[in-house]
Amino acid sequence: MSFLNQLFKKEKLNIDLGQLPNHVAIIMDGNGRWAKKRGLPRNVGHREGSNALRKIVEASSKLGIKHLTVYAFSTENWKRPKNEVDALMSLLLEYLKNAERELSGKNVRIRVIGNIKGLPEDIQKEVARVEKLTAVNSGLSLNMALNYGSRDEILQAIKGIAKEVENKTLCVENIDENTVARKLYTSEIPDPDLLIRTSGEKRISNFLLWQLAYTEFYYTDVLWPDFREKHLIEAVREYQSRHRRFGGI
Ligand code: IPE
Ligand code: IPE
Ligand code: MG
Repeated sequence: MSFLNQLFKKEKLNIDLGQLPNHVAIIMDGNGRWAKKRGLPRNVGHREGSNALRKIVEASSKLGIKHLTVYAFSTENWKRPKNEVDALMSLLLEYLKNAERELSGKNVRIRVIGNIKGLPEDIQKEVARVEKLTAVNSGLSLNMALNYGSRDEILQAIKGIAKEVENKTLCVENIDENTVARKLYTSEIPDPDLLIRTSGEKRISNFLLWQLAYTEFYYTDVLWPDFREKHLIEAVREYQSRHRRFGGI
């Protein structure tokens, strides 16, 4: 891209492409309310939500964001009526099945974080297939949180560490932050720089509790099915106006 082109692009976006958040995490919320507002069943909202995800993956990849982590199904979402859980599972399956075709040539790597063994078998198989197939891709890393709960994640990390201590392969004195981080689903993923939650809710809902220690939070009233590239750019712009201190001055 020529210098002028770059300048034009920057001005149009009004963000600094050299200072992008390396890792953006999104709590994709508001599908149900989007549908309700239109007098439609909640599942239609979920379908629109998965279309919005496709667009945001594309936009993130185009902008040059390295990691995008999206909360697609929490360990608490099993509490929903069976028909809604089933609809969400079939949308996830469809998303994974189409991912390869849709993302071909886009160099996107897909990873799933969460308790994969607790998901239906067809999804487990698809996850393994897509992860393997895209493992060589070096562009955007799309991390999908499926059957993900942060307390569940931390708990299994603690158990893993306790086992190593029990087996005497680890000394208590040597346990540090890295020991814990390496046991999390996100062991190969850096901590998020920016967390976006749509739909106006201002809570974490058991998402990335350890990893969000110094993340910048951004809330918007836009419902997830309406969330587009321009909203992502708005969030990045706000992020770039923040002063991250990490406890310093
Ligand atoms: C987010 O939308 C999707 C999932 C949690 C799977 P919701 O379904 O939570 O939508 P609201 O919050 O009811 O509007
Ligand atoms: C968080 O949204 C989970 C996902 C977006 C997958 P919820 O809609 O489940 O969160 P709560 O129940 O409002 O906290
Ligand atoms: Mg919700």
